[in-house]
Amino acid sequence: MELKHIAFIMDGNGRWAKRRLLPRKIGHREGVKALERVINACEKRGIKEVSFYAFSTENWSRPQEEIDALFDMVRKFADNELKSYVERNMTVRFMGDVTKLPKDTLDALNKITSAVRQNGEGMVVNIGLNYGGRDEIVTAVKALVDSGEEITKENIESRLYTKGMSDPDVIVRSSGEKRLSNFMLWQSAYSELIFIDDLWPDFNAATVDSIIDEYAKRTRRFGGLK
Ligand code: FPP
Repeated sequence: MELKHIAFIMDGNGRWAKRRLLPRKIGHREGVKALERVINACEKRGIKEVSFYAFSTENWSRPQEEIDALFDMVRKFADNELKSYVERNMTVRFMGDVTKLPKDTLDALNKITSAVRQNGEGMVVNIGLNYGGRDEIVTAVKALVDSGEEITKENIESRLYTKGMSDPDVIVRSSGEKRLSNFMLWQSAYSELIFIDDLWPDFNAATVDSIIDEYAKRTRRFGGLK
């Protein structure tokens, strides 16, 4: 079965830094480098869609200094890497209520969104920012009720942030934690789950290869018989 869409829960930046007696934000900085390595590796291997959990609706409870540092990195990432991905014809999109982000970060994201080409042939890069799976479903159902249309799976799906994307074939979480933590709850119904002990800043092209190999060994039945 084709591996079209990989979704990543990027976990362990803080522990990576702590092990080296470094501040947590250095862990996040290394996490951004890992993100670039993973996006490049997935593109080279012909993966069509990748999703990343960068900031959850629950992450606001972190110290303000860490939140500020994270959004500053997101802004810089948008101005540099995301811009170059769009120039390479990738489609960059965001999921979550980004209107709650700091203004300069939101401005940088809007610049990217308006630069994305219609019908871009390249990989789709989807980034969760102020994203929560339950919030996503509630927002979609509210919009559907307001529209007066029938409550069906298809009509809910067409109001999710991932509208037009396929469901993730695989959800990967780093750092050995084995849970979804409110990530893509609707879309993960039949996803294969892969948990990797490496901390997120240690992810690289070889990790992507190991995910592709592991996926090839899984048999997906979608509730039926093989
Ligand atoms: C989890 O590690 C990571 C996060 C909450 C943030 C993920 C963000 C990035 C990789 C960088 C910013 C994103 C972009 C799009 C530029 P943790 O802090 O929970 O680690 P811990 O569990 O070891 O403390």
